[in-house]
Amino acid sequence: MINLTHTISETRNAIQKQISEGKTIGFVPTMGALHEGHFKLIKQAASANDFVVVSIFVNPIQFNNPDDLAKYPRNLEADIQQLEGTGCNLVFAPTAEEMYPKPDLTEFDFGQLDKVMEGKFRPGHFKGVAIVVKKLFEIVTPTKAYFGEKDFQQLAIIKKKWLTFLRCR
Ligand code: PAF
Repeated sequence: MINLTHTISETRNAIQKQISEGKTIGFVPTMGALHEGHFKLIKQAASANDFVVVSIFVNPIQFNNPDDLAKYPRNLEADIQQLEGTGCNLVFAPTAEEMYPKPDLTEFDFGQLDKVMEGKFRPGHFKGVAIVVKKLFEIVTPTKAYFGEKDFQQLAIIKKKWLTFLRCR
């Protein structure tokens, strides 16, 4: 049975309970519209951790085109149905208001990493990704986090910033 949370406090409480029982936490952040690639990561997380958290959040601040944000597919119910049997224990599906009660002004220095390739054409995109990943990591405090390799530049940026954080837990 998958537990569904919408608020940061109920999510933290559910995860802290697991951590206090000595469990390891695997985390797969997503924007929903789940597909085989996600299920593969979730199964990987389930085989290496005691408790698996999947976040489903269409992060508005990583879209630099409002039409793309409006058109992004959202179907939480279908996503949750498909998660049954994958090893996912908890889905965290916050609203934008819950995640950003006020604008998050964190700045990151990725060196050249966010100024080339896709970053060149999507100003602010990787900063938006980094802000949400930082917030999600603070909420979930994962032992291990799993990201798709398809988005090569995003993975490089996340590895640069957070590999040490994850290795510390
Ligand atoms: O790769 C994605 O789906 C998103 O960029 C992520 C990492 C969930 C952040 O919103």
